Amino acid sequence: MENESIIQIRNLKKIFGTKEILKDVNLDIKTGKCTAIFGLSGGGKSTIIKHIVGLLKPTSGHVFYHENDIAVMNEKELREVRKDIGFLFQSGALFDSMNVYENVAFPLREHTKLDEKTIHEEVMSKLTLVGLDASRVAYLNPDELSGGMRKRVGLARTIILNPQVLLYDEPTSGLDPITSDVISQMIINLQKEIKTTSILISHDIKETFKTADYFAMLYNGEIVEYGDEEHFKNSKLEIVQKFLEGDSMGVFN
Ligand SMILES: Nc1ncnc2c1ncn2[C@@H]1O[C@H](COP(=O)(O)OP(=O)(O)O)[C@@H](O)[C@H]1O
Ligand SMILES: [Mg+2]
Repeated sequence: MENESIIQIRNLKKIFGTKEILKDVNLDIKTGKCTAIFGLSGGGKSTIIKHIVGLLKPTSGHVFYHENDIAVMNEKELREVRKDIGFLFQSGALFDSMNVYENVAFPLREHTKLDEKTIHEEVMSKLTLVGLDASRVAYLNPDELSGGMRKRVGLARTIILNPQVLLYDEPTSGLDPITSDVISQMIINLQKEIKTTSILISHDIKETFKTADYFAMLYNGEIVEYGDEEHFKNSKLEIVQKFLEGDSMGVFN
């Protein structure tokens, strides 16, 4: 089990216009573990995870999910994959026209035929799992929530279908340090509680070392370093060491 990987990225290349953002990305995402992707701002981290859910098609190369190539799937097959893979977008995007309850229930209504009583149970239990007072927040509108609460509601919606894989794209960006800690702790708890496989993109290096099991460095369109914490911290690559030393140039996130 230890070395099984649920997602395999092979020779992934992505060109936007004339810009080659991903040159030759190779990465295995280990089942049941959290893998962090580090890299320069604008380096293509979000682009990688958008390929995993089929929101982008590779210029060439492959992303395999359970050994099936995402790039050649039709919309119906992609829908099935997206049921399995929860994606917490950078913005946390909630539907402003729906209250918290309807936001979290939305994927259940889209993808399942569960009755209203079961939907209610599922929504309330997920709101509780992300540390919210479910009966208090369920009928609030998104504009009545703080930034941290919105993230939690977004997280509850992301996990409502009990996904096998969770993709976190900058889950703590734009939050104050205390709320960031709370969200990071939540990610760790979810990892333990629902034993998902996850991918974490974060500019917060310290938090990421608390959360993730494996670390990958994206640089010039390739994964140039990969390994566990000890391996990564002992990397001989200058770019990795610079990255670990911190963000003095503001070019990392
Ligand atoms: N759909 C798109 N069309 C054109 N350019 C894009 C598109 N998506 C991303 N890019 C460009 O690709 C680069 C990498 O973006 P992104 O993956 O968001 O980087 P990161 O998440 O590492 O900050 C950026 O220069 C961005 O402007
Ligand atoms: Mg990004």
